[in-house]
Amino acid sequence: MIKNICLTFLALILFFNCSETKPQLDNNKPVNRGLITKKAMVVSARQEASKIGSLIMQQGGNAFDAMMATEMALAVTFPSAGNLGGGGFLVFRLNDGTKGSLDYREKAPISATTHMYLDTLGEVIPHKSSIGPFAVGVPGTIAGIFEAQKTYGLLEVSQILKPVIELAQKGYIMTKNQAEYINNFDSIFLAVNKKPILYTGGFIAGDTLKNIKLAETLKRISENGVNEFYTGKTAELLTAFIQDKGGIITLEDLKAYKPIWREPISFSYKDYKITSMGPPSSGGICLGQILKMVEPYPIETYTHNSVKTMQVITEAERRSYADRSFFLGDPDFVKIPDTTLLSEAYLSQKMNSFSFEKASSSSEVSHGFINGYESPETTHYSIVDPFGNAIAVTTTLNASYGSKLFVDELGFFLNNEMDDFSSKPGVPNFYGLIGAEANKVEPQKRMLSSMTPTIVEKDNKLVMTVGTPGGSTIITSVAQTLINVIDYNMSMHDAVNAPRFHHQWLPDYIRVESGKYNASTLKELQNLGYNIDDTYYKTIGRVDGILVLEDSSLEAGADSRGDDTAYGF
Ligand code: GLY
Repeated sequence: MIKNICLTFLALILFFNCSETKPQLDNNKPVNRGLITKKAMVVSARQEASKIGSLIMQQGGNAFDAMMATEMALAVTFPSAGNLGGGGFLVFRLNDGTKGSLDYREKAPISATTHMYLDTLGEVIPHKSSIGPFAVGVPGTIAGIFEAQKTYGLLEVSQILKPVIELAQKGYIMTKNQAEYINNFDSIFLAVNKKPILYTGGFIAGDTLKNIKLAETLKRISENGVNEFYTGKTAELLTAFIQDKGGIITLEDLKAYKPIWREPISFSYKDYKITSMGPPSSGGICLGQILKMVEPYPIETYTHNSVKTMQVITEAERRSYADRSFFLGDPDFVKIPDTTLLSEAYLSQKMNSFSFEKASSSSEVSHGFINGYESPETTHYSIVDPFGNAIAVTTTLNASYGSKLFVDELGFFLNNEMDDFSSKPGVPNFYGLIGAEANKVEPQKRMLSSMTPTIVEKDNKLVMTVGTPGGSTIITSVAQTLINVIDYNMSMHDAVNAPRFHHQWLPDYIRVESGKYNASTLKELQNLGYNIDDTYYKTIGRVDGILVLEDSSLEAGADSRGDDTAYGF
C-alpha cells in the first residue's frame, strides 16, 4: 500500500537537470561544485541510468527501488560493466543510521577445481580464466537487486523496470567515448563469439543502440520475478548457451546462487566513521588499513599530492596490498583476521619501517604475521533518496565486457570474474595482483574483489556515499577521494576529479595518471628511491559520489574521466 503513497505529489516535484555551479567557500577560495539538489540524487556512469534512478524516486520509490532501476539501466546503456551476467556489492545507510551490506558477488561453479586454470605441468594456461566460457562465474546481479528491493524497496518491480525496458526497446544514443571504446573490442568479440554480435560492426557518436533481446529478458524478469533468471526460461537459455560454448555452469549452479547480507567493515578516520564492504571484497579492510596507516601523519599540513603526501599514502598502500594478497578471500571458506588487520597496534607496527628519507622496497615488505586482492571496467553508482537513505553500489563483469561472451538470445555479456581468483599462488592476475591460498579456486566459493562501495558519517549523520571502478586501483582511488574531502576540504566535484596515483605492493611502482603530475614532484620521488610509471594509466578510476553539504543539500561528484552524470531533485 505504501508503494503507491505520494506518487502524485512526488511526480510534481521539480526535476532539475544537470548543471554546474561555482559558489565561493568562506575562505574565498573558488571551488568547483557538481550538481546540487535538495532531496535526492543518483550519480552513475551514464546519464540515462541516473535519470531513470531519479525518476523512480520522483515516483515515490526509495534508494533501493532506484538501485534496481539504475543497475538495470546501466546494463542497457553501459554494457562494458553494467550487467545481468555479473555481480556486485551494496553498502547502505538507512535514514535511522542502520548500516549494512549485501554481497551479490559471483561464485565459482559447483564443478570448479583449484587447478582448473593450470596445464599438466602446473603452469597457468593463458587467458583461460579471463576470456571465454571457463572465465564465467555464476552471476549474482539479479539475485542481488531483487533481494535489496524486496527487503527495503517501496514500489512494484514492474513499475521500476518499465522505463528500463522502454530504454532497451527504444534505444539510447552512444556518446563519443562509448563508440570509440566499444570499437576497440570488435575483433575480440568476433573471435570469442565466432560471429557478429549486437556490439560489432563499428559505431560512431550519435548512433542509437537498441537491445530488443535484453528488453524481452527484462520483461520476463519483471513478470516472473527473480526465479526467471535462476530457474526459469532465462536460466535454461543461459545454461544452454554456456554449455554449448564448453562452459561448466549448470542449472544447479544457478539454482544454488544466493546473495548474502553481511556485516560491513566499520572503522574511524579522524572524526569520521567509515563503513565499507567486507570480504569477499578486500575493499573495506584495505581502505581501513590505508587510512589508519595515514592517520597519524598530519597530511592536512602537507600539500595535496606533494612528495610527502604521496610518500605516506604510497607506503600505506604498499603495506595494505601485501596483506591483501595473503590474508583475504571468501569468508565462507577462509578465516580472516579482520580485527587484527585493522588494529592500530598492528598497523603502526607495519609503518615502523617507513622513513621520509628513502622509499621502502616491496621485496622487504610482506604480509604481517598474525597468530592463528578495467581494465577499469566495473561501475559504481551512489544514491541518496528523499527519505534520507543512502546507498553505494559497485557492480562488475570484471574486465570490460567480461569474458567477451555475449548471450545474444538474452542480450547481455557474461562476466570473467573467475580471473579474480588466484589461479596459482604467486602468479599475477589480469590486474597484476598476486594471490595466495586464501583466494584459490574452490567450488561455490566467491572470488576476492577490490570493490569498495563506501559510506561516510560524522556525528551520526550522513556525509558521503562514494565508490569507483578500476580493478586493483579501486581501493586506492576511494582512499584518495576520502582524503581529498576530509583532509583537503575539497568539494565532491573537485575530490573525484583530482589526479590520482596507485601503488599495489607488486609491481613495486607508483603509477600516476599520465600527464597530470608535476615533473619536479615525480623527480623528487625518484630521487628518494620510488619507481614511477606515468605511462601505464591514462586515467585511474571513475569515482562517483554524493556529499551532504552543511545545509543538507546534496553535491554530486560525477567523474569527468567518463560520461558520468548526476540527476536529482
Ligand atoms: N573484478 C574486479 C573486482 O572485483 O575487484
